[in-house]
Amino acid sequence: MLVGGKGTRLRPLTTHTPKPMLPVAGVPFIAHQLARAAAAGVTRVVLATSYLAEVFEDHFQDGSPYGIELVYLTEKEPLGTGGAIRNAASGLTCGPDEPVLIFNGDILSGVDIAALRDSHLAAGADVTLHLTRVEDPRAFGLVPTDAAGRVLEFLEKPETPEQIVTDQINAGCYVFTRSVIDRILAGREVSVERETFPELLESGALLRGVVDTSYWLDLGTPGAFVRGSADLVLGKVDSPAVPGPTGEALLLPGAEVDLGAVLSSGTVVAEGASVAAGAIIEGSVILAGAVIGPDAYVKDSIVGAYATVGARTSLDGAVIGDGAIVEADNELPSGLRVACGTLLPVGAVRTTAGPGGCPAGQVSAAAVHGSGQTRSEVASR
Ligand code: GDD
Ligand code: MG
Repeated sequence: MLVGGKGTRLRPLTTHTPKPMLPVAGVPFIAHQLARAAAAGVTRVVLATSYLAEVFEDHFQDGSPYGIELVYLTEKEPLGTGGAIRNAASGLTCGPDEPVLIFNGDILSGVDIAALRDSHLAAGADVTLHLTRVEDPRAFGLVPTDAAGRVLEFLEKPETPEQIVTDQINAGCYVFTRSVIDRILAGREVSVERETFPELLESGALLRGVVDTSYWLDLGTPGAFVRGSADLVLGKVDSPAVPGPTGEALLLPGAEVDLGAVLSSGTVVAEGASVAAGAIIEGSVILAGAVIGPDAYVKDSIVGAYATVGARTSLDGAVIGDGAIVEADNELPSGLRVACGTLLPVGAVRTTAGPGGCPAGQVSAAAVHGSGQTRSEVASR
């Protein structure tokens, strides 16, 4: 599993926590992937780590509580997706003709992992890729195939409209024949999507795509992250790591929610977090120890660990970093991200002209204090 990326699009949440370790429906995201892999018969997983590598091992140890043997291979400098696969190969124990499953560490999907492996073996392919169809493929790797499923081309993150030749994209799960991994150059940064796959095609290797219609989501952006968490809570996608049906919201042990608060649309309130009377929370993730004040409105947002959202403050599609304090009567516009440890005083951000006379959608320059953060760290997307 490739888990070494910096999670840039999820900042500031990924300041202290690597993307695959952010809690989704109550557990680190990668726990869902590990549980699905274990259910498909996988017994040993190599985690290819780099950014904040220690966080994985501290949490998962040797993997035994998850019924899986976990091995960690850490890149001092990130080696890219292909370099990480090559580096992780030293942790594999299988023979050269055996299949190796490779997962991007940020994909929530319902793909039948065992069927993908079986189809790889049956076709005698060098690489089999899980593909999915999306409405807007521009942020992904486009993978057109012929009628027999043979990959024709790789178009990673196309930049011109002419390159959008298909709605089939690389879904971030591959089966490699073990010996094919050794063809990736060792010891330098390599992109599997931009270098390895095109080079293999060029050399005449058999690369096959398997398209399916199961649930699929890349959790790499705040909007997708809250959607994925909510979909797990609401049962729109199955994960063996979710503890049974949870209804409209998932409250983890030690969460305190006032009876006068309303939680809906797959909201998660984590351990030790509290929600006061009159608060309305829709489709959001409230991380451990966070405090949501009375009559606050939180929609499609992520509130970081030990952060505070003051009374009557409203968030819509916002990301509040760990330990930040957004005091009362703020109105954060969609996409606003508040850096970890920042303090937004009472009424500092409004989408309508507030008492301080700030124009709509702006932050008062004098309004941002705390923990050495500067105004530029409170920034709209
Ligand atoms: N170990 C390691 N080292 N892992 C890495 C590195 C690295 O240098 N760089 C990225 N990763 C991991 C990330 O942690 C993530 O789990 C995975 O590789 C993919 O990286 P992303 O940054 O999430 O890539 P993406 O979403 O822009 O694009 C990839 O995924 C799409 C599907 O969601 C590509 O594979 C696309 O082709 C694909 O469509
Ligand atoms: Mg991704």
